[in-house]
Amino acid sequence: MKLHIALLASAALIVGSCNDATPTEIRAPADGAGLHTYASFPIGGAISIRQVMRDSQLRAIVLRDFNSVTSTNDFKAYTIAGQPGVYDFARADSTARFAEANDLRLFGHALVWHAFSPKWIDELSAAETRAFAKTYIDTVVGRYAGKIDAWDVVNEAMNTTGAGLRETNWSRKLGAGYIADAFGWAHAADPDAKLFLNDFNTERDTAKLSTLLNTVAELRAQNVPIHGIGFQMHIRVDSDTALIEESLRRGAATGLLIHLSELDVIFNRHDDSQGGGQPTVTAMTPELLARQADTYEAVARIYRRAVPPAQRYGITFWDFTDRDSWIDGFFGMEDWPTVYDDDLKAKPAWEGFARGLAE
Ligand code: XIL
Repeated sequence: MKLHIALLASAALIVGSCNDATPTEIRAPADGAGLHTYASFPIGGAISIRQVMRDSQLRAIVLRDFNSVTSTNDFKAYTIAGQPGVYDFARADSTARFAEANDLRLFGHALVWHAFSPKWIDELSAAETRAFAKTYIDTVVGRYAGKIDAWDVVNEAMNTTGAGLRETNWSRKLGAGYIADAFGWAHAADPDAKLFLNDFNTERDTAKLSTLLNTVAELRAQNVPIHGIGFQMHIRVDSDTALIEESLRRGAATGLLIHLSELDVIFNRHDDSQGGGQPTVTAMTPELLARQADTYEAVARIYRRAVPPAQRYGITFWDFTDRDSWIDGFFGMEDWPTVYDDDLKAKPAWEGFARGLAE
């Protein structure tokens, strides 16, 4: 492993000059530089530590393309607190060791989320829920203080569509101040961690973004420690890029860090519910792949245009191979959302994204 990393590191040095590459010089990674070498801000990938440890090809992609990682599921409450009264940090700890050994920024996802919380929590009284939430955040954030750079403190707190805050087990039991409480507990456990509010469709749903920005403004008016906004960015090849740009500008106007936290670009539609796929595209063509490359390129350019350098927390892919993407299983539809294909070969989207990053 060590030797492998040393080889990659020297390869990165040799191709370091690719930072200055003009768009036409950008080539897929077999003979070129990793994605993050084109960027002036961190580029991340969502990983499962078990998969990364057993799949050397996947690991090589992570180490070449990314300088930041987020666990897909290994820091979620259903993984860490799946059983009442017991914390299981096995996968989270090995992710932290992997990140540290390879000099990757580690992003924590996610402390409070209505979905994928352990079922047993739903049975707790309001007082028990509050006690659990505080202890859980204290323990988890405290354990990774100095190792995790930033956390999604509350994930998907806004309604799926339009204005308004989502009603969840957390909001019902902890009360309207639950977002402020969660940020306060996280800050107390690690005063150096950057704390994010993360949500989806905020790049396209202007009413939803308004609710999020109002929430951020209220939190700041109460001196709640919040440092960043996560735009998940689960978008489509035909997403309105002008609207995305306008939304990122609105986010950046807060002065907070902006993280594109879960980028992927699909071809088909879904209704935002699990199993809600509505597939119409059933196979890839060179034209479709080129269109996806254009969208990945546009996102990288828009991020650089709309977000001032000091606020660019980075761009993270939510899965980076079509083989492993969460989209197929979650929405029940075949799709091709990422920058690597089923055989882990870089797609035109990889080059498009690199072009969009290149200064
Ligand atoms: C997804 C994971 O990728 C899947 O493996 C899991 O089954 C469900 O969750 N928004 C989020 C992520 O904030 O945590 C979700 O991740 C994708 C949508």
